[in-house]
Amino acid sequence: MSITTTVTTSDGQSNPLRAGLQSHRIADPCTIVLFGATGDLTKRMLMPALYSLRLQDLLPSDFAIVGYSRSPWSDDQFREAMKEGIAQFAQLGHPQGPVWDDFARRLSYVSGDFDDVECYRQLQHHLETDLTEFNTHGNALYYLATPPVVFGEIVRHLDLAKLGPKDTRGWCRLVIEKPFGTDLTSARALQREIEKVFPEKQIYRIDHYLGKEPVQDLMALRFSNVIFEPLWNYRYIKSVQITAAETVGVEQRGGYYERAGALRDMLQNHVINLMTLVAMEPPVSSDADALRDEKFKVLRAVRPIPSDRLDHHAVRGQYARGEIAGAAVAAYREEPDVDVESSTETYAALKLIVDNWRWGGQVPFYLRSGKRLKRKNSEIAIAFRSVPHRLFGELGDQFETNSLVVKIQPEEGISLSFNAKYPGQAMHIRSVSMDFAYGQGFGVKIAPAYERLLADAMRDDATLFTRWDAVEAAWEVVMPVLERWQSERPADFPNYAAGSQGPPAADALLAADGDSWRQL
Ligand code: BG6
Repeated sequence: MSITTTVTTSDGQSNPLRAGLQSHRIADPCTIVLFGATGDLTKRMLMPALYSLRLQDLLPSDFAIVGYSRSPWSDDQFREAMKEGIAQFAQLGHPQGPVWDDFARRLSYVSGDFDDVECYRQLQHHLETDLTEFNTHGNALYYLATPPVVFGEIVRHLDLAKLGPKDTRGWCRLVIEKPFGTDLTSARALQREIEKVFPEKQIYRIDHYLGKEPVQDLMALRFSNVIFEPLWNYRYIKSVQITAAETVGVEQRGGYYERAGALRDMLQNHVINLMTLVAMEPPVSSDADALRDEKFKVLRAVRPIPSDRLDHHAVRGQYARGEIAGAAVAAYREEPDVDVESSTETYAALKLIVDNWRWGGQVPFYLRSGKRLKRKNSEIAIAFRSVPHRLFGELGDQFETNSLVVKIQPEEGISLSFNAKYPGQAMHIRSVSMDFAYGQGFGVKIAPAYERLLADAMRDDATLFTRWDAVEAAWEVVMPVLERWQSERPADFPNYAAGSQGPPAADALLAADGDSWRQL
């Protein structure tokens, strides 16, 4: 059951762009079970997002949250830790007063191993208590925020304990964090295990990039305007660059990252997902599967990376010591839990070609992601072709091609650059830009991605979650690269300084096409 609310706050009345906005965004009553409740993700992202949803009245009126983890905490310790997490990471001030008190009494905790049947009985007991005490209707949202190695185990035990979809009285959904498998084979094995218990419609594979507001707006930009779509093909677009650059290193996640690397950690999921949104055909409707059908079709059309030209399509890098914002930082191999001779890549770039009617195999999609780069910047940049015939411009004029940049973070907006005449007697041409910034444009604060995605999972909207066919197809795209990188030790690691633009080989990848990366 959903409730309709009208967004007309006192602040909203002064903003004509918000007038008359309707929202049907409240979900059914439910218990949210957070596996991995003592971990970083719960503290930094999930609990702050849930509390913020509560403050905005976007949680169902009858809800409860159960944390499940190995640490031997009591309910009160769990509440206290979550309160600290919210205070530290939610930017909502210190949680207090009646709203926090009500939120806190709905939190409880199960301490146990993920393969301990007895602990799942305790979980069952919590779910039953929530049903009577908080009227959760027996609905359960299981969120796997654990290391991926235990995903299968948790699902199997939910089934054994009769907490899965075929046994519960309400609805029952599974939200899974990435990475979904560590390669194609393990992803398929995990899928086989999960689908024994949860039908695909009840599986929500989360990719937090899809919850970022500018990423969603990419769809609005393409399909709510008439001016871009006619140009959105190989005839007018020369290349697409998708960047997810970070300044942070691996921080305390060396253990995980050593086995992952940039290709698995960022490219196979976040960056490839962005690419599918840029490249896909217009979906027949806005429903979840219509959109996901189109994303899948893009991946099917990606030309397999040829093994004899793999170096022309893929570049890897690892950061050496360097400087970020004036401060000296360590090399990857000096980070905690990292092998001193590690071959794990902290930077990956791919050039992909899409063989279909729209892209005609003629538009390179350059994807890159790396840690310890010069600047934090995630963006999608569409570079258009040159005009067919140059009429204007004086000696010395730069005559740049048009570009459309969707800025994902830290800036959030859209920038369109085009050529204009410089004022004066001569016909000088200069590149100028039209910029739209979300915060200023709509006068609202952008919600963190996890808020949107958690609320969507609760209200059974899978549009922004990745369907199995796309996960499998994305693994198929990267497998040739992964296999080569695993079998051949990199001779030149570390090959880029922390704080730089990335490895020189990545520049060469584009230079071979007469192109260059946008500067970070
Ligand atoms: C996560 C990766 O999925 O995304 C991290 O595991 C990475 O390594 C993070 O730092 C980046 O997310 P964001 O939202 O900060 O760009």
